[in-house]
Amino acid sequence: MSTPVQLNRITASVIRGMKQKGEKISSLTAYDYPTAAALDKAGVDIIMVGDSLGMVVLGYDSTLPVTMEEMIHHTRAVSRAVKRAMVIGDMPFMSYQVSVEEAVRNAGRFIQEAGAHGIKLEGGRDVAEATRRIVSAGIPVMGHLGLTPQSIHRFGGFKVQGREEAAANLIMEDARILEEAGAFSLVLECVPAALAERISQSLSIPTIGIGSGVHCDGQVLVVNDMLGTFEKFTPKFVKQYVDLNSQIKDAVKRYCEEVRVGAFPGKEHSF
Ligand code: KIV
Repeated sequence: MSTPVQLNRITASVIRGMKQKGEKISSLTAYDYPTAAALDKAGVDIIMVGDSLGMVVLGYDSTLPVTMEEMIHHTRAVSRAVKRAMVIGDMPFMSYQVSVEEAVRNAGRFIQEAGAHGIKLEGGRDVAEATRRIVSAGIPVMGHLGLTPQSIHRFGGFKVQGREEAAANLIMEDARILEEAGAFSLVLECVPAALAERISQSLSIPTIGIGSGVHCDGQVLVVNDMLGTFEKFTPKFVKQYVDLNSQIKDAVKRYCEEVRVGAFPGKEHSF
């Protein structure tokens, strides 16, 4: 028998209401059951199963190789763990760009097969029609503007977006278009803090910032960055709250040493 939908959890309308009440929204990514369970118990409002999965968990150099099957697999694990937060599945590269029909079908898979409560897709006016149609299908959509990693080849690297006035105006217009298309919130990644503030003030839907300053309505970080389990690089906007990598290495070194000298297992670990 399938699990009944829980009504006391965070929904898209709760998230929108938080902006109206001036309450900041907390969000982190997660890709597996134990991490998602810990984040949920700690009170995170939105858990995003980002396609950053590709870089921080699967070892790819970008998010581009990530497939629908990989996203569905990890979103299912996260959904099984989460009791309170809103779970957002991130639509991977080429799962929504080819046609609006494919976009709706793939968005539906996140809800039907993976237990997500909404989806996120990258882009502005180019994805407005897909956003409209996915929302019409009853699926909450989170937009994503600024440094959208699936367009990394167009941007020529991980660079702040919207520094020039013309580029800032385009992002501002895209934000309004997505709101009008029915998005319930909007990730702003690596845009100047002043632009993020202007967008946040002019929209009724909440903005969730990553590298976009304190004036967004909420914040998101990649969980591996803030817990210190991704070693390849740490973006300037990341605050590392704990260095888990060092703690894991210390623990594993101690374990190896104790196995070698016969100090583990002790009597208390034996039958
Ligand atoms: O892929 C991702 O993790 C994301 C969030 C950080 C917004 O897009």
